[in-house]
Amino acid sequence: MSDITITVDGKELTVPRDELLIKILNKNNFAIPQFCYHDALGMDGNCRMCMVEIEGQKRPQIACNTFPKEGMEVRTRG
Ligand code: FES
Repeated sequence: MSDITITVDGKELTVPRDELLIKILNKNNFAIPQFCYHDALGMDGNCRMCMVEIEGQKRPQIACNTFPKEGMEVRTRG
């Protein structure tokens, strides 16, 4: 699958579109709290600790159940 471009805290990243946002953030050293997600276990989505802001979304979203989209702007800090 082709890569796409997103922005995290103002930094442009080229990422695979089929990779969860939480993995992208972890790989690129954006520290976000996370408790229930583990690579080996996959999505859970219960702890709600991995919230990030995404431009155009009314409410924060959990990074462990969000896939990137072309041009997505993510903020990990308030
Ligand atoms: S790490 Fe628990 S909801 Fe995302």
